[in-house]
Amino acid sequence: MLIHPSILSADFLNLESELATISEADAIHVDVMDNNFVPNLTFGQKMVESLSKQSALPLDLHLMIENADKWAPEFAKLGASSVTFHVEASENPISTARAIKAEGVKAAIAIKPGTPFGQVQELLTEFDMLLVMTVEPGFGGQKLLEETLPKIAQARSHLRAHNLQIGLQVDGGVTESNIAHLAELGADVFVAGSAIFSFEDRNEKIRQLRGAALKGH
Ligand code: DX5
Ligand code: ZN
Repeated sequence: MLIHPSILSADFLNLESELATISEADAIHVDVMDNNFVPNLTFGQKMVESLSKQSALPLDLHLMIENADKWAPEFAKLGASSVTFHVEASENPISTARAIKAEGVKAAIAIKPGTPFGQVQELLTEFDMLLVMTVEPGFGGQKLLEETLPKIAQARSHLRAHNLQIGLQVDGGVTESNIAHLAELGADVFVAGSAIFSFEDRNEKIRQLRGAALKGH
């Protein structure tokens, strides 16, 4: 049960001190947006490189950018521990996964709420993690879309049936009230932005989320 706070909800002008408040996280989730694949713009390569130098915790990069086949391998060179790209933004996910792994970085594939699990299921042997988006990517603070939940169970049963030991991440609208259910459905890596950063004691929130996830497991 891994908790990855999304710094999309942090204060961008004080990221160094913001990182210090989430020291008990398992990794830092960094949302890279290009104002094209999603209608929002966040961090570029230089920022990711600085974050990875500054952070004591591993970086979990979530690329919400077009042309993932070109850019994901570049982002894999910046010090992150994993790079996630969207299947909807990739023409050749297998060679992109291999290019990421050639940098010694874990590769993950993401699906938007409207993308069926079937679109990635045959690719998963090439990946270290699957990300099932539980909101439309682009913004923090949205409500989890219930219609995405069956995909989590579907993904878990596929991973089990094929004995695939990869992470199953959920991202978007994860809160203390739904995290146990998400864990019960089979998720084991949880991204949370607003559910963590809207509280003063973020490490306490991380512990609570982890505890609640363990109950659902
Ligand atoms: C949304 C991002 C998420 C976002 C989650 O496109 O991928 O990582 O920060 O934020 P919350 O937890 O507030 O929904
Ligand atoms: Zn994300």
